[in-house]
Amino acid sequence: MTELIINTKILKVKPESIHFSPNSIWDGSLPTITDLDTKNALLEAAKIIRDTDQTVAFPTETVYGLGGSSLNDNSVKSIYKAKNRPSDNPLITHISSLNQLNRKILNFNPNEPTKSNATNANVSNNSQNLDKSLVMSKIPTIYHSLIEKLWPGPLTILLPVPARDNKLSKLTTAEQSTFAVRLPSNPVARALIALSDTPIAAPSANASTRPSPTLAQHVYHDLKGKIPLILDGGSCKVGVESTVLDGLVNPPMLLRPGGLTYEDIIKLGGKQWENCKVENKKNIKKDEKVRTPGMKYKHYSPSAKVILLTPTEKNNDEISTNTENEKINNFIQIFLNEYQNESKTLEIKKIAILTTYHLNNLPLEQLNKITKENNLNIEIILQSLGNNGESIQANLFASLRQVDEDDNVDLIFVEGIHEDNEGLAVMNRLKKAAGNYSIDF
Ligand code: TXA
Ligand code: MG
Repeated sequence: MTELIINTKILKVKPESIHFSPNSIWDGSLPTITDLDTKNALLEAAKIIRDTDQTVAFPTETVYGLGGSSLNDNSVKSIYKAKNRPSDNPLITHISSLNQLNRKILNFNPNEPTKSNATNANVSNNSQNLDKSLVMSKIPTIYHSLIEKLWPGPLTILLPVPARDNKLSKLTTAEQSTFAVRLPSNPVARALIALSDTPIAAPSANASTRPSPTLAQHVYHDLKGKIPLILDGGSCKVGVESTVLDGLVNPPMLLRPGGLTYEDIIKLGGKQWENCKVENKKNIKKDEKVRTPGMKYKHYSPSAKVILLTPTEKNNDEISTNTENEKINNFIQIFLNEYQNESKTLEIKKIAILTTYHLNNLPLEQLNKITKENNLNIEIILQSLGNNGESIQANLFASLRQVDEDDNVDLIFVEGIHEDNEGLAVMNRLKKAAGNYSIDF
């Protein structure tokens, strides 16, 4: 059967023209949108989400998402199909407010006096008197502090699927007893969810196994002809996906490191998060049931082979000129060895080196001279990922894509960083991109 090719439209939107009130995350009030083109694009996208089985790609603060209604089996099928994603991997449901979560998923109206909230009957719609704990009363208390401090933002939490009158598509949850939910901070994402008044299931908008998209052009590269619309709201600030937390188990677990650091969760989550554990499962078998099904698949992979340089304990030292020179010489040795190894099986014409703390000052002329002396006919592209955790994280996927898709290199060296703060998410993605091919550095 021939595949239907869809015309993929890209509409530019201006995130800075969308304004939400501070209480909107609680009361669900709609944004004001001052730019007319942005408003029209969002209304067109919202209609696709609400009224069709189709999908829309949109920017979030983490990465671009490929969204469809979380409540509609056919929309979720369209997501899996466009991405070519295995359907046992559940999707995150994106909401624009707690009001929407209560109304659309948890079947709860905090303003309706019931036996349990009759004492709060004087709570009104008036946002001045907003009772946040009442609005959150269907959400386990372990999450309350995190929600107050970190939503909207790159935090995903697991909640029990409602026992009665569940409206979430079984394909969204991959038939698990929990569902993942987050309230993104990117105004384009939030406005799309608010205007469609539909909880949106959205994995990253890349073809399955490819690096996640942080620009609209990345989405277009992977999904053109497969989806009707991409909202182009510029680059994603955080650059890696949200942090996924499970507070329904004891001790609570960090299932996927992401845009929010483990250190932040410990600091902001309250007492119960102090002993939060990080899911750390290596070598997961294909048919094994895992707590975060997304962890078992090939992921974030450029076409070029990636070699990861894993920092050893030693480079916890301050970066002195001495250690830097040592590191540079060490790298040149690794570079030549690996080139020799790899060129036995791979034709290598172009190599990219993505650098962080120790190799940001790697002298390209010196490297070119050495390759010439060794009669290696290769072109080298040097690119810095940045010199702090946030910028390394923000540039990670875009740089991998650039050297892979635009520069067409055959081999990519990446200088890794320590696994604290942003380093935990960065190294999680890099290890997968490298298929665990790493060298101590
Ligand atoms: O930043 C993000 O989270 C992006 C943007 C678009 O919002 N979305 C994203 O979605 O990364 P996705 O589908 O690529 O990743 C969802 C992750 C997977 O690791 C999945 O296994 C896990 O969340 N997940 C979803 N539902 C789950 C559940 N019920 N239990 C355990 N893990 C779950
Ligand atoms: Mg993904």
